[in-house]
Amino acid sequence: MRGLRLGVLVSGSGSNLQSIIDAVESGKLKSEIVCVISNKEQAYGLERARKHNLPALFINPKEENYDAKLLNTLKAYEVDLVVLAGYLKIIDKELVETFKGRIINIHPSLLPKYGGKGYYGIHVHAAVIAAGEKESGATVHHVDIGIDTGDTILQKKLEVYTDDTPESLQKRILEEIEHKILVEAIAHLEGRA
Ligand code: GAR
Repeated sequence: MRGLRLGVLVSGSGSNLQSIIDAVESGKLKSEIVCVISNKEQAYGLERARKHNLPALFINPKEENYDAKLLNTLKAYEVDLVVLAGYLKIIDKELVETFKGRIINIHPSLLPKYGGKGYYGIHVHAAVIAAGEKESGATVHHVDIGIDTGDTILQKKLEVYTDDTPESLQKRILEEIEHKILVEAIAHLEGRA
C-alpha cells in the first residue's frame, strides 16, 4: 500500500491537522504531509506545521490571483489528496475540477444538517444547541462544487447534553470524533490508492 502526498489547508487552530501529523509520525498513516497552506497568516495551524518541519505557506486571500496561486502551489508540491482541515474559505471551482475526487473536507455536524453558507466552526454548534438537537457529530466528505454537499466518507454522532454550550460541544466533537474520523477517512483513501 502506498501513501498519499497530502496537502492540508487550515484557517485556524489546526487541531485536525495535528491529528494527521500524529498519525503520520506514529505510522498509523502511510501518507506524508507535503505542505500546509493557510489563508490566515496567524493561523496556529501554520505554527504546528513549522514545529514538525513541514512546509507552512501563507497565501494572502486579498491577492487577486489567490485561487490560481493556491492551485499552482498544490500542483508544485505534487499533492495527491487535498485535505480541508478547518479551512474556512470556499474552494474555487477550478481547484475542485482539477482535484476531482481528491479533495476531502471535515465538517462539525451531521451533514446534510447544519451545512452550507454561514455554517462553519462555532456557528454550527450554536445553531445545533439553539435548535434543541439531541445529537450532533461530524462528517468527512468529498468536496464538490457545492458547499458541504459532496458524498459522505465517514460520519459519527454523539449525544448533545442539556447543559452543553457551543464551546463544550465543539470541544467534544473535535476530540471524540473529528480527530479520529479524519485520520480514518485518509486511511480509507490510502487503501484505494
Ligand atoms: C473544526 O471543527 C472543523 O470541523 C471546522 O472548523 C474547525 C477547525 O478546527 N470546519 C468547518 O466548520 C468547515 N465548514 P481546527 O482548526 O482545530 O482543526
